[in-house]
Amino acid sequence: MEVWTVANQKGGVGKTTTTIALAGLLAECGKKVLLVDTDPHASLSYYFGIESEDLELSVYDLFVQVSTKEQILQSLCPTQYSNIDILPATMGLATLDRSLGAKGGMGLVLKKAMQKVAEYYDYVLMDCPPVLGVLMVNALAASDLIVVPVQTEFLALKGLDRMIKTMDIMQGEQDEPFKYSIVPTMFDKRTKASILAYQQLQDIYGDKVWPGVIPIDTNFRNASVAQKVPSHFAANSRGVFAYKNLLDYLMKSPKRSSK
Ligand SMILES: Nc1ncnc2c1ncn2[C@@H]1O[C@H](COP(=O)(O)OP(=O)(O)O)[C@@H](O)[C@H]1O
Ligand SMILES: [Mg+2]
Repeated sequence: MEVWTVANQKGGVGKTTTTIALAGLLAECGKKVLLVDTDPHASLSYYFGIESEDLELSVYDLFVQVSTKEQILQSLCPTQYSNIDILPATMGLATLDRSLGAKGGMGLVLKKAMQKVAEYYDYVLMDCPPVLGVLMVNALAASDLIVVPVQTEFLALKGLDRMIKTMDIMQGEQDEPFKYSIVPTMFDKRTKASILAYQQLQDIYGDKVWPGVIPIDTNFRNASVAQKVPSHFAANSRGVFAYKNLLDYLMKSPKRSSK
């Protein structure tokens, strides 16, 4: 099992879309995928029609008690895709930083929980909230690979700087360096701003940047309205084609061995 975490401290950059697009493609290749929604806004859960208010168990429960394998399995929800399950988010997650703030040793909760269900999944994809808190720290610490979507516009680059610093700071506590790839998203080749931002990304971050782009594609929004993964909703769209290239690249990328 590999854990891929999709993170950026900025909202609206394509984190949830990237998580879902990659999950859909992995499932099509016959991989068993577990999605973990660590964002209190629960966009990933809603995408699959899961109403977080109706849930008895969610990611939240992992943080309030040590869960057994059976308890974790009970909190997983199936989706309309047989190869994709989801560990959903609930609003309660938003209170974790306050309630756990001072409590030590909470950084590896997600990592330990995923180890308990490792035998059932080939890939775990974690979607993060746009906040550096206990949830993002947990998702990063659990990861073998971090995917950092960045919108190709000037302001997004400033946010990225903060995200990279966060990973550097966390790095101190990890055995092996984080492995991450920066993924330029919502690229609009007709605008100078997009092209300039892409060039800047490459100048500053070099080979940390995936040598491709995810284009602006309205199919992503329409797929979310239809509650389908993009590769099911618009299999031949340029957006899906770009995510296929990204997936090939990520599968070949070096991973952090965090076992
Ligand atoms: N490549 C893209 N082209 C067009 N719209 C996109 C693209 N990627 C994401 N979106 C849309 O942008 C909005 C924000 O994306 P989302 O994945 O929710 O970002 P985040 O999780 O980082 O907040 C959503 O409405 C989504 O459908
Ligand atoms: Mg999101």
